[in-house]
Amino acid sequence: MTEVTKTELTEDGKVIRKVRSFVRREGRLTKGQEQALNESWPTMGIDFDATELDWQQVFGNDNPVVLEIGFGMGASLVEMAKNAPEKNFVGIEVHTPGVGACLMAAREAGVTNLRVMCHDAVEVFEQMLPKESLDTVQLFFPDPWHKKRHHKRRIVQLPFAEMVRDKLKMGGVFHMATDWENYAEHMIEVMEAAPHYQNTAKEGYYVPRPEERPLTKFEQRGQRLGHGVWDIKYTRTA
Ligand SMILES: C[S@@+](CC[C@H](N)C(=O)[O-])C[C@H]1O[C@@H](n2cnc3c(N)ncnc32)[C@H](O)[C@@H]1O
Repeated sequence: MTEVTKTELTEDGKVIRKVRSFVRREGRLTKGQEQALNESWPTMGIDFDATELDWQQVFGNDNPVVLEIGFGMGASLVEMAKNAPEKNFVGIEVHTPGVGACLMAAREAGVTNLRVMCHDAVEVFEQMLPKESLDTVQLFFPDPWHKKRHHKRRIVQLPFAEMVRDKLKMGGVFHMATDWENYAEHMIEVMEAAPHYQNTAKEGYYVPRPEERPLTKFEQRGQRLGHGVWDIKYTRTA
């Protein structure tokens, strides 16, 4: 439980403290995760580097790209990639054992349309993603940061919503899901304030649980605890 803020210097030497949406908890890699990282990273891993990616080069095709932020252990991301071979999937997760677990699952499932990154998604968005290049951005069960004084750490904030829109294609979808009602309300508040987005729900703000979203580990835990789940989808309109 160490890194919650990051200190950076502006060009004129002023210190800025960046609030991050996660606390780094390295944890140990299992043998299987370590092996999967060693063996699969060269083909499925993308290193962080402040250069813009070219999806055609990354995947060798022009299929639509679905990007997931904070995939945890990656089980649901791998399942989605397996179920939709006509699409490309990219997952970003800061927790290394999670990335290892995802690569293990990917190898087991034999998916080839998935790439992973192990870095802060905010920095990847800022520095590596081409504008208007993503069909879908998905954010499932992001850390809710329950306490009011921690709400500033929630990843969904106005500048973040605007950055996601910038990377979505016209008509592309930003799909969020949470089992924390207060975070769902916060997401709606932010998204309604963000320009050029339209909520896709037929009634109210929430959509029924979409079939394409497999049950995630966090959702299963939430179900056991009797939590509700809120799915929210916005499309880019301009
Ligand atoms: C509550 S977990 C949910 C994991 C998974 N989506 C699920 O439903 O099982 C949130 C995950 O987001 C990751 N995360 C938080 N902020 C992130 C960021 N800025 N970039 C990448 N991953 C992040 C955390 O490491 C954690 O694994």
